[in-house]
Amino acid sequence: MTDLAFTHTEADRLPAAEREALLADPGFGNVFTDHMVSVVWTKDAGWHDAEVIPYGPIQMDPASSVLHYGQEIFEGLKAYRRADGSIVTFRPEANARRLNESAVRLALPEIPEELFVAGVRELVRIDADWVPSGYDQSLYLRPFMIADESFLGVRAAERARFMIIASPAGPYFSGGVKPVSIWLSRDLARAGRGGTGAAKCGGNYAASLLPQQVAADNGCQQVLFTDSATVDTIDELGGMNLFLVRADGTLLTPRLNGNILDGITRRSLIQLAKDRGHAVEERDLTVSEWREGVAAGTITEAFACGTAAVITPIRQLKSEDFAIDFGESGPGELTMALREELTGIQFGTREDRHGWLSQI
Ligand code: PLP
Ligand code: COI
Repeated sequence: MTDLAFTHTEADRLPAAEREALLADPGFGNVFTDHMVSVVWTKDAGWHDAEVIPYGPIQMDPASSVLHYGQEIFEGLKAYRRADGSIVTFRPEANARRLNESAVRLALPEIPEELFVAGVRELVRIDADWVPSGYDQSLYLRPFMIADESFLGVRAAERARFMIIASPAGPYFSGGVKPVSIWLSRDLARAGRGGTGAAKCGGNYAASLLPQQVAADNGCQQVLFTDSATVDTIDELGGMNLFLVRADGTLLTPRLNGNILDGITRRSLIQLAKDRGHAVEERDLTVSEWREGVAAGTITEAFACGTAAVITPIRQLKSEDFAIDFGESGPGELTMALREELTGIQFGTREDRHGWLSQI
């Protein structure tokens, strides 16, 4: 438990007309709200100085550990505005738990879950006018933790800062719910056994940027990582988990093998699919199985999922020497049904049977 309360320093808010103009077409990750959350941790004093303050640049000593050794972790979750004007967040306590799992791996301090959730609530409450109401729009929340001790020795920092920033967002991929192409990264890996693949740390994303560039050069929107030894056992995409759908309605997704993120969207979809009576297999899954399954007509759909991506249908997997292609048929039926159900729960047109929503 924590009895830490947030103080609030009011910002010079952006005038309403300018805010509304930005909310009309925010894109993803371009625009930020008027405030941000900051909480400080020191080895001696623990978590303290919980504040909601005006959004803006932060001062940091150039010797801060995060700038040299990448001691950083983050989260991503969304707040949704519903037809009646109310605002909800989706499973924030799951993000708090996962941040703490990442913290353990990156030798950062764990933060009390209720402090994380209270920070999310405070920021969304104070910047509620920034939660957009357009189709497929939401307020993307980015909690993160950085080590900011000024010390160049290589050890876990004794000072850290937890922050939350918020960004009104439309779809992550431009073009609506259009099937995307993904590129199989052969020589460039993101994670390996015993590494940080299961943590949500900046370093994993830094490692994915060059393969992501290669993907873009080959006309693909995302990159698929596999186990680097076999280049066949599927891990995940640069910023999303992956599902395949069999013709008999079974969902297939890589098991949590230590290299991939335990996605909250992934977990939610497994539950929703089981509720509908679908079998779900969490196991090792290979590119070969995908390729052979599509050729034989036994694998009929593929999709990516994550907070930013929601559920994005996949049309094809490309590599230097082959492509697995579902053709022009458009998004798969089960892909779209699950997407409709998940977003329906988030936007309040479907019942929240599992108690996933928190009212702001
Ligand atoms: N895998 C990676 C590497 C991600 O960055 C994300 C996005 O957060 C996911 C999976 C999906 O996780 P979640 O559904 O919790 O957003
Ligand atoms: C998220 O979905 O929250 C992520 O962190 C992934 C990133 C591609 C934006």
